[in-house]
Amino acid sequence: MGEIVLEARHLKKIYNANSLNAYEALHDINIQVEKGEFIGVMGPSGSGKSTFINNISTIDTPTEGKVFINGKNVLAMSANDIGHFRYQNLGFIFQDFNLLDTHTIYENIALPLSLAGVDPAEIETRVKEMAQKMDMTDQLYKLPSECSGGQRQRTAIARALINNPSIIIADEPTGNLDSQNSEELLELFQKLNREDGVTVVMVTHDAFIASYTSRLIFIRDGNITSEIQKGDMDEDEYFQKIVAISSSRKRRSRIS
Ligand SMILES: Nc1ncnc2c1ncn2[C@@H]1O[C@H](COP(=O)(O)OP(=O)(O)OP(=O)(O)O)[C@@H](O)[C@H]1O
Ligand SMILES: [Mg+2]
Repeated sequence: MGEIVLEARHLKKIYNANSLNAYEALHDINIQVEKGEFIGVMGPSGSGKSTFINNISTIDTPTEGKVFINGKNVLAMSANDIGHFRYQNLGFIFQDFNLLDTHTIYENIALPLSLAGVDPAEIETRVKEMAQKMDMTDQLYKLPSECSGGQRQRTAIARALINNPSIIIADEPTGNLDSQNSEELLELFQKLNREDGVTVVMVTHDAFIASYTSRLIFIRDGNITSEIQKGDMDEDEYFQKIVAISSSRKRRSRIS
């Protein structure tokens, strides 16, 4: 087994604990992710996918359980240390982008570097380089509200990658991209993954997008219910298997 870069033990998440609205969104999640894996997370709407990735990546705090990232017990860290740790290790793409509305695209992309105290001249070089890669050069001085959905998504992707994270956590990163931009993003993830050993954990509802991963986890009602490895399968075989599993799940959920 390779180096474990992310591990969750007995994770439970209860929203609004101790109130009448208490809702247990994750029950008893256990997972180990090896360096260089490209993990996909699939499951019906409301099954707990976003809750799962937020709770394994310091964005949210589980009600019970432990999380280790690059060997560090992140739930034991101070808020200050977690902030620092995030900018050194993790890149996030959120389902609703989470851009800062009153800041320009430039400032949004620069955020992880500004927070880490990187020199402004270096920030400028890196932001401009990244903007070029993401085809955002002409949008840098606009506000997010002045950009299209796809441009906002590419801004979120640029921000996630600007600090060269060792782990990328992405929630539906292609939700607002057309098929060509989606494929380009997946190819970029695959390249970072294969050439630089970057680990990716990505939520998607799309079987074709999921076929880029090396392992796929299915979540249902707050539990990991099954998982498949690409292993020796070629892309087509893997894709067919994903389609078969997700459609049998859909049939089952219509009956229940
Ligand atoms: N802040 C919150 N407070 C209370 N309940 C929440 C909160 N966030 C999510 N939930 C509930 O937890 C469950 C899991 O939500 P989650 O957002 O993880 O689903 P998801 O699988 O990401 O769905 P989608 O595919 O629609 O994004 C849902 O029933 C949701 O209503
Ligand atoms: Mg979600």
